[in-house]
Order: sequence, then C-alpha cells, then structure tokens
Amino acid sequence: MACFFRRKIAAKLGRTLQQSEDVFIPALSAVPVFKKQESPDFKLSINTLRSTGVLPSSGGIQQQSEELANRLKQDNVVEDISAGNGVIHFKVNRKLLVEKTLEPFVKEDDYKFGFNSELFKALKKGTTLVEYSSPNIAKKFHAGHLRSTIIGNFIANLKQSLGNNVIRMNYLGDWGMQFGLLGAGFGKFGCQEKLKQNPLQHLFEVYVLVNQEAEHNEDMMQAARDFFRQLEQHESEAVSLWQQFREITVDEYQRVYKRLSVHFDVYSGESFHQHQAQEVVQQLQSRGLLKSSETGAGIVDTSTAGDMSSVCAVQRADGTTLYITRDLAAAMDRKEKYNFDEMIYVTDKSQANHFNQLFHVLRALGHTWADRCEHVPFGLVRGMSTRSGEVVFLEDVLNEARTRMLHNMSQSKTTKEMDDPEDIAEKVGISALIVQDFKGPLYSDYKFDWDRMLQAQGDTGVFLQYTHARLCSLIRRNEGVGAMTFDPSLLLEQTSIVILQHLLRYDEVLYQSSQDLQPKHLVNFLLKLCHLVASAHRELPVKGSSQDVAQARLRLFSGACSVLASGMRILGITPVDKM
Ligand code: ARG
Repeated sequence: MACFFRRKIAAKLGRTLQQSEDVFIPALSAVPVFKKQESPDFKLSINTLRSTGVLPSSGGIQQQSEELANRLKQDNVVEDISAGNGVIHFKVNRKLLVEKTLEPFVKEDDYKFGFNSELFKALKKGTTLVEYSSPNIAKKFHAGHLRSTIIGNFIANLKQSLGNNVIRMNYLGDWGMQFGLLGAGFGKFGCQEKLKQNPLQHLFEVYVLVNQEAEHNEDMMQAARDFFRQLEQHESEAVSLWQQFREITVDEYQRVYKRLSVHFDVYSGESFHQHQAQEVVQQLQSRGLLKSSETGAGIVDTSTAGDMSSVCAVQRADGTTLYITRDLAAAMDRKEKYNFDEMIYVTDKSQANHFNQLFHVLRALGHTWADRCEHVPFGLVRGMSTRSGEVVFLEDVLNEARTRMLHNMSQSKTTKEMDDPEDIAEKVGISALIVQDFKGPLYSDYKFDWDRMLQAQGDTGVFLQYTHARLCSLIRRNEGVGAMTFDPSLLLEQTSIVILQHLLRYDEVLYQSSQDLQPKHLVNFLLKLCHLVASAHRELPVKGSSQDVAQARLRLFSGACSVLASGMRILGITPVDKM
C-alpha cells in the first residue's frame, strides 16, 4: 500500500541526501490518475523540500530536480526515476504495486486500509468536540440545519476514524421568547393528543398561530412575556410544560436522525447556560471589559485596534442575556466538562461574524484554548422543497428522497427481488442528498435539484451506491472463487493499474479532508473510483475467465469495494449491497 512505497522512496532519498527519511514523507504524494494514461506512481515536490529547508532554496528549481533525479538509483522496488517540472517522478515495480496494494484486503481488518498511514502519525490526537445540527424547538428545520447535520456528522466520523475521541453535540435552540409565546399560546391553540401524535408538526402549528395572534392581540403578547418570566424564574408549572416540549422534540429528532444514521452523545442547548451567562457578564465586568452602549446595553470591544470600531452586545438594556452570552457560557462549560483539545462549530456562513466575536471575547477573558475553536461555515441552499411545498421538517426531505428513489427503482427489475425496497430507497436517497451537498466547497451556495441528484449515471450518490451494490453482487456470485492468495502478474492491465494507483491516494485524500474539513476531496475520490471500476467491469470480466485470472480480478474488485464502503461510511452514507 501507499505506506510501503512512500517509506521505500523516502529511505532512498534519505540515504542519498544523508538525512532522516521522515523529512521526505510530506513531500511525497501519489500521482492522480488521469484518464487511463500510463503514468508514474509517486512524485516528490522539490518546492516542499525547499520550503522545509531540506534542500537549499537558492538556484534553479529545475536544475535541482534533475541533479537529484540523476543521483537516485533504481532498485527492485523503484524501477524508474525521472525529473519533471519541479518534481521527481517515481515508478514502482508493477507486480509489487499490485501485491502490496491488495495485500491488506484479505485480512479481517481491511477496513483499516488507509487509516494506519504514516501521514496521520504527525497529527495531534485528542478530544474533539463537534457541535452540529442544533435546530430550534418549535421552529422550522431548514436547509441550513440539514447541511449542518450532515457536515458535522462527516467531520465527527472523519476525526473519529483518525483516532480522536469525538464528542458529538447538538446545541438546541431551547430558550428564548419563542417559549413564552409557545407556553402562553398552548392553552388556546394546543392539544395534548395532537402533541403526542405528531409533536414537531403540532408545536410548529401552535407557534405559527400564537405569533399571528400576538401581532394584533396585546394580551397574548403580555401573556407570552409573563410566561417567559415565569420560566426564567423557574416556576414549576411553566418549567414542566417547557420540559415536555423539549423532551418530546428530542425524542422525535432522535427517531429522525436515526434514519440519517446520525447520533449525538449530548443534547445540550441554550437553556443550559442561562445562569452561567449572567456570570459571564460579571466576569467581563470585573475584568473591565464590559462597556455600556448609548442605549444602555452591555457591550464588549471586539476591534483589533481596541478603538470600539467593532463591538458585540452581551447584555440587553433590561439586563437579560443574548445568544452570544449563552455561547460564551456554553464554551467555557464545555471546556470544563470535556476538556476538549479542539472544538468545531458547524453553521451557515451568516454566523461567521458571531463566531469570530465569540472567539475574540473568549480570548479577551484569557481563554487561550479559543485558538483551538473553529467555525466551519457553509453556503446557502436555494429551492429545497418537496411536492407538497416548502420544507418545514427534516422528515419531509427524507420522505421525499425515499419516495422519489422508490419511484426510480420501480423501473428496474431487480427491485422486485429485494427484501425491503423501501429501506434501500431510503439509503440511496440519503446518499444522493449527501453527495449533492458535499461535491463542491462547503462555502458555496447551491441549488437543490431532486432530478439531478437522483440520476443513476453521472456524479451522484446513486452512482456510488449502484457501484457498491454491483461490486457486492459480483463478490457474492463468486463466493467460492476468492482465495487467500492470488497471482499479481495477472493484474497488470492498465485498467487494473489505474485502480491501484488511485487507491494509493486514499490516505492522502483523508489527510487533505482532515486538514481543511472539506468533504469534496473524499467525494471526488470515490466518484473517480466508481468510474474506474465501471471500466474494469467491462474490461476485466470475472465470469468466463480461468480460475487464476478470476481470483486475481476478484481481489481487485474486493479491494475497490472495501475502500468505497469505507469512504462512504465516513461521508455518512450507509452502503447498500443490493439495489
Ligand atoms: N440554533 C441555532 C440556529 O438555528 C444554531 C446554533 C449554532 N451553535 C451555536 N453554538 N451558536 O441558528
């Protein structure tokens, strides 16, 4: 596998330049496959070696590459070494490429392929807290919450696979005036029966009705203010109604998240940090950081120059705290409770300024760990709607994806042979949603398009699932043929070599995604793998080949299938083995 060759090449470089081999590892990478052209397997970036001080930065880079390439000697592993444009190319022995790359796939732990790479050794491992999804009780679950849910889940999966202890947290919008309105309006518009039957729907209905009522009815508004005050003062009747709303919402969300294979270790929320938020205001005051605005609000200077050119309000004139005050308290509380090494917040980019201010104020309070807090922003989704209209609940999107996928599948004959076509349609539909969302840079806005995302051909989640199912079926049909050993010299066709070369990149792609937290590297890697596998299905048939050839090809297909499944799982997709 990639490790083996990277090590060998690095050792050769180390010997020639009389340096430790480790310094060459970061400068070595597998060459991306282009079409099905013959190409070298690895390249060494001279620029990287110059910037890390391994090579002198003076002199022509081209000359430097050529000189170094000439000094390096071929051997049994590396058969060809040549200087390219600021790089040195290495081509390894073909039989070894096949043997070493496919070696891990016979063992039980083949799912580790890529993860025990030396690229990850330098990464700091520790506790990562990822906060994502975080919808607001009784309000709409919008496209932003869906994005946050799947992106956060991806980041958590990736961090966990790389050996971190991950805490998955949902920070609910479970406090604020909406509960005053909800509490006051429930008596008039609510119904316990409906609340039990369809909690999210009913809470949302009540919320909409109370808001309409409060617009023209001052009594209702007053009742809402009263209810919220009772809540803040912990009056038991108000608190128990609030608690019921919250519990019922969490239960319901847990059920729906399960359909997405998403789970949380902790359901926290804004309500948890009410009192602590007041303490934060006091801390700011005692450190002399709290200023008063003209309207009497409590503000903090967040400008870099310290000239109040940018400020952030932490307290209203009436003494109540704000969203950011609760976030300040929440961050400190999490540090205390979980002692995380890093914390990642996933929300849409409109909150970028909020998080900048949050980190700024934390630092001002002396919390240097704020430097290890990060906001992962993402763009807006336009036009996410279902046949019945605008999306209000997460479940609507999942149902629509399932229905549409089921409809598409009903045209294929294999659907009739499935035990549970609904379940398959669900998993494939969700993978379509995820791939559409993850294909580009997270920061970009995009247009939601059911028809395009559900196409079986082209770069979609359906294509990933289809390829996986087809590989599984090939492996199933040939169960007796696979063997512990195989002859690597039977996999030297270019169609097979490019798949192996592509697999060599898997650890690098994971590494890249772990650095910038963008899923697009992994998605595009997997899509490319599926295209290469499609050619292999045509050109390297198993059926009708001699036993030896069939065995070798099956090993190649199993390797591709394992990596595909492993990558899909990190993205948050459950691979199906029939479709
Ligand atoms: N509930 C918020 C919203 O829907 C998102 C919360 C994001 N997390 C945070 N720590 N502020 O906009």
